[in-house]
Amino acid sequence: MSRKLTGKRVLVTGGAGFIGSNLCQSLLDEGNEVICLDNFATGKRQNVEPFLDNPDFQMLEGDIRDYQTCLEASRSVEVILHQAALGSVPRSINDPLTTNSVNIDGFLNMLNAAKENEVSRFVYAASSSTYGDSKALPKVEDTIGMPLSPYAVTKYVNELYAHVFGNLHGMNIIGLRYFNVFGRNQSPDGAYAAAIPKFVSAFIKHEAPTIHGDGGQTRDFTYIDNVIQINHLAATTNNPSALNQVYNVACGERTALKDVVQSIQNALAKEDQAIADVTVLHGPDRPGDVRDSLADISKAQDLLGYKPTHTLQKGILEAIDWYREFLK
Ligand SMILES: NC(=O)c1ccc[n+]([C@@H]2O[C@H](COP(=O)([O-])OP(=O)(O)OC[C@H]3O[C@@H](n4cnc5c(N)ncnc54)[C@H](O)[C@@H]3O)[C@@H](O)[C@H]2O)c1
Repeated sequence: MSRKLTGKRVLVTGGAGFIGSNLCQSLLDEGNEVICLDNFATGKRQNVEPFLDNPDFQMLEGDIRDYQTCLEASRSVEVILHQAALGSVPRSINDPLTTNSVNIDGFLNMLNAAKENEVSRFVYAASSSTYGDSKALPKVEDTIGMPLSPYAVTKYVNELYAHVFGNLHGMNIIGLRYFNVFGRNQSPDGAYAAAIPKFVSAFIKHEAPTIHGDGGQTRDFTYIDNVIQINHLAATTNNPSALNQVYNVACGERTALKDVVQSIQNALAKEDQAIADVTVLHGPDRPGDVRDSLADISKAQDLLGYKPTHTLQKGILEAIDWYREFLK
């Protein structure tokens, strides 16, 4: 049994989003009081609907770009799990100004509000995109390259601010560099949807999915339950050397995108034979994307006791079950 956060008052920013809503669910399951701050920019009302009648849940509709909102949301809070941001590399290339203001100004607002309200733990969503053009594999926390997109810049700046606030103000901060997270509540819709939900949704609808590039690009796909686990570990660790650090959050395995697509197609075809005949299309490479990604997860294992419970394959099977219901 891995260590869990219980009986605390926790603010989850971006709590209506994919990862945030899963964190809200898990925190409520463990007997925490949860405040969700979200402006529904990309989050979904249906993700928080199941919690609205729970007396331990409070929904604050607001924008992290507004400092007063951040101050208000973090008052009397013991732990912040900061997930709110605009994700997607292509979105950040098309609209760097909005990505910058949400991901950097919004982050700094939350961090400063946490300092002002003396919040005892600040855990935030960092990103594997911080490895940028570094060719080293596996990715080890201390060795990063130059960013390949505005999104990657914003996530790296978050780490720099976290480092400075930890040093200057004695705050307890942990950054979690998520690697391609997937699972329930991840939206398959819109131009900036992530790969796995887009593929699953297309196959279920018997539509041809498109892979950007040759499909040989590799990723360390990470199921949502592993991400939930490490958020609990980061929120509860008392090990002083584990604090004010960043950690890779992944499985420690890399898989080519075309193989993931094949696994999804095979799994879905077991229930619906016609899916085996759906063709997969290939489009141009996407600018700003890294070619290969694989995490070294030993730092999280050693300092936080992280032990991923879900491989890619196990995660895909669970995710597919969820999407079958969701897309009915
Ligand atoms: N999903 C991944 O693979 C992945 C990988 C690396 C990092 N991350 C990071 O994890 C976090 C969560 O990502 P996700 O995949 O759940 O994305 P998501 O888009 O589902 O969730 C982000 C949430 O933040 C909210 N939000 C956006 N702008 C806001 C604002 N100005 N004020 C308040 N709320 C705002 C959105 O409405 C949404 O609910 C993000 O910080 C993202 O950058 C995700």
